[in-house]
Amino acid sequence: MPPWNLGRFQRRANEKLKYASLAVLVIQNASVILCIRYVRTVPGNKFFSTSAVVMVELFKLSTCLVLILGQKRGNLKEFVMYLYKGLIVEYMDVLKMAVPSLIYTLQNNLQYVAISNLPVATFQVMYQFKILTTAVFSVLMLKKSLSRLQWVSLVILFTGIAIVQVTQEEGKAGRDRAPGQNYLVGLLAVLVSCVSSGFAGVYFEKILKGTSASIWLRNVQLGIFGTVLGLAAMSCKDGSAIAEKGFFFAYTPMVWSVVLNQAVGGLLVAMVVKYADNILKGFAASLSIVISTVASVHIFGFHVDLYFALGASLVIAAVYLYSLPKAPAPASSSLPPASSLSAEPDSYSTKLVIK
Ligand code: C5P
Repeated sequence: MPPWNLGRFQRRANEKLKYASLAVLVIQNASVILCIRYVRTVPGNKFFSTSAVVMVELFKLSTCLVLILGQKRGNLKEFVMYLYKGLIVEYMDVLKMAVPSLIYTLQNNLQYVAISNLPVATFQVMYQFKILTTAVFSVLMLKKSLSRLQWVSLVILFTGIAIVQVTQEEGKAGRDRAPGQNYLVGLLAVLVSCVSSGFAGVYFEKILKGTSASIWLRNVQLGIFGTVLGLAAMSCKDGSAIAEKGFFFAYTPMVWSVVLNQAVGGLLVAMVVKYADNILKGFAASLSIVISTVASVHIFGFHVDLYFALGASLVIAAVYLYSLPKAPAPASSSLPPASSLSAEPDSYSTKLVIK
């Protein structure tokens, strides 16, 4: 195949991967929300969330190692050499991953703090604020430029999700509020999570798209730090309780499914960041909230009302508006007019021409 056709073939394949990973992320996000909601409503002993964070890291790490071994067609020597080069020789690259890893570990632990101190719906509304922090970091760190319409669509998205969630919360009439919850602690945890989600996501996107290292190798680097830091957080917070009750205390099949689900979600995030971008990841997360709410009609007896319909319509309208083709570039520019949804996967540094 001539090289220019090869390039086109690669672009088409990347485009397919982009939509496939976004679609699977929507479904994964929706199901993880439902699983966590279920785990939270089941009475009984509570598992150690810090041990769950470690398990998620271990699952991701081992999956990536298996994927790399598969890429090397099971050749152990090639596999070991590849890891040696990627982890030891290029140790500076590994060190760069310490930043998002540290932030993600903090964020993954903070999310449990937030979920334990806030009603689920409030947490979800507040956490959507990360759509805006992500957009701001994308502009600052990746020099991405968004049209006015796209900024407006981000605000519409946030409003839509807020309406969906607030009406859900009202419907529950405070049923979610448990004794011993500290609203302020929860609020602070979720706000820090939003800033860290935006920053870590965009930092990871910059590293992933700025070098040729494989996405799975990057995740191995991330996972090594993640596991070590997760273990440190676990021993600081729950060390003595875990020594007494055990690492897997109160791990029900549902807790395992949440852990697995989050591990798959983490890998999907990496794929979406590689083949699409962090802002589209935010849209996928918002769509999942609408989908999980609709699913709650059947599972938890939730009633769809006018507010929900309004919020969901705003979310869908925002997705549509964000993906509208941008105005064509000025004649002086050599860049092709691009829709954000069909922009080059690796074009984070491309100043998309709009306004
Ligand atoms: O909420 P947010 O989208 O920022 O969450 C991203 C999640 O994806 C975090 O839990 C993080 O640990 C995970 N992740 C991952 N691998 C990556 C990037 C993110 O597991 N390469």
